Amino acid sequence: MNSSDGYTKFINKPLPGRIAKALGLPRPVPLRRHVVGAPLVEGPILVLGETPVANAAAKHLYDNNYDVHRVAGIKQKFSAIIVGLDSVETPADLADPMLTLGQTLRSSLGRNGRVIVLARAPETEATENNPKLLAARQGVEGTTRSVAHEMRAGSTANGLVLGENVAPNAPSVIGALNFLLSGRSAYVSGQFIRVDTDAGAIATDIDRPLAGQAIVVTGAARGIGAAIVRTLSRDGATVVGVDMPQAGDSLAAVMNEVGGSALQMDITADNAGQRMIDFCAERYGSLDGFVHNAGITRDKMLANMDDSRWNSVMAVNILAPLTINEALLAARGNGVVAADLRIVSLASTSGIAGNRGQTNYSASKAGVIGMTAATADALAETGGSINAVAPGFIETDMTAAMPMATREVARRMNSLQQGGRPVDVAEAISFLISDGAAGINGTTLRVCGQSMVGQ
Ligand code: NAI
Repeated sequence: MNSSDGYTKFINKPLPGRIAKALGLPRPVPLRRHVVGAPLVEGPILVLGETPVANAAAKHLYDNNYDVHRVAGIKQKFSAIIVGLDSVETPADLADPMLTLGQTLRSSLGRNGRVIVLARAPETEATENNPKLLAARQGVEGTTRSVAHEMRAGSTANGLVLGENVAPNAPSVIGALNFLLSGRSAYVSGQFIRVDTDAGAIATDIDRPLAGQAIVVTGAARGIGAAIVRTLSRDGATVVGVDMPQAGDSLAAVMNEVGGSALQMDITADNAGQRMIDFCAERYGSLDGFVHNAGITRDKMLANMDDSRWNSVMAVNILAPLTINEALLAARGNGVVAADLRIVSLASTSGIAGNRGQTNYSASKAGVIGMTAATADALAETGGSINAVAPGFIETDMTAAMPMATREVARRMNSLQQGGRPVDVAEAISFLISDGAAGINGTTLRVCGQSMVGQ
């Protein structure tokens, strides 16, 4: 991993830290990241609000031996504060829980803490022609985003949003709650994870949620792809890594490290999808998950864009995933490709907000978000799912090569005041590809530290 964020190391020493505080400079702190065997959080958890989803969350945590409190005690420090806003009916209902949260935040939330807001989805049958209800539910999203902007010292705030008929203790509600509490979501802030169905199963072994699954990862030889391979493998999956023949040596090194298999091929080749299915059939007899990670940039201002730059980016980043998905969907339930196949694709914040010099890349990554939304129903029919992850500024060789001033601005322009690591993206993918996320479908989750770009 290429992390050259010397500022974060420097600013966490006592004297520079005091000077930075006095001058109002950014004070990023080292983030709490997941370690195998670690609990979701180290300290007590405060669950505010007697709502159905808050009660289910408290019960789940209590049953798993966490120190759960329902009221803030004097001088009590919490690792996480969960707020039930799933029963709001009018915007007036927000005052009491939000002001209670405000009072407890300052004195009670520890470093690298978590705020998780529990909510019902804004646009559903229930809010049609009900302006008060929709105003209240939209209000929950607005206020949560602002809380996230106010977080300090590595803490994050996110929302867990349930579709109208989703049970408060549905597997993916519990799965998403676990993800958001844990160090797996270190670089996720200001986001909403939306659960639309009661599908899925809670992992019995929380440290190996992907046990028994064979998962293909494209672009596995380096960067984010290599981190995805390591994280999926750590979480119990058997991984097939795909990359270009030119990257064969590094691909072999990554795949040997995790005891997986390397498949050298260009994903834009004819029959790429079928060849990957055949490879999995021969090696493992199954293909349960697929991560579209391979991606390229060929930046140029549109006025200087040529055919080759435009077409190569589109071919790798969106046309190949579309074609491979056709092969995967057609093969579902054939004895190799699982009927409940899970797909996760790499989008980008550039696909959401656009970026100067990236008209081609943004078209392809916005395309990934569209592909994800439009494939969801077809996969849901057989119990599968498809989601995307949109990384912000991630410390990789690609971002290390940016000019220093541009890089420093991009790195600090988010609520956590630092870049994410490839493992942060990989953790989100591992969560979305697990059965604990089966009720989440067609969504794009940003892993961007609440980057100011596009939100
Ligand atoms: P990278 O350039 O370090 O690695 C990409 C890998 O994909 C390379 O190993 C490359 O050989 C492989 N690849 C490229 N074309 C291929 C093809 N036709 N067939 C097979 N393999 C091919 O990129 P990085 O930074 O790890 O990015 C991974 C994904 O994350 C990409 O989709 C990228 O667009 C996305 N992303 C990265 C961000 C970042 O900050 N690094 C931010 C947002 C999105």
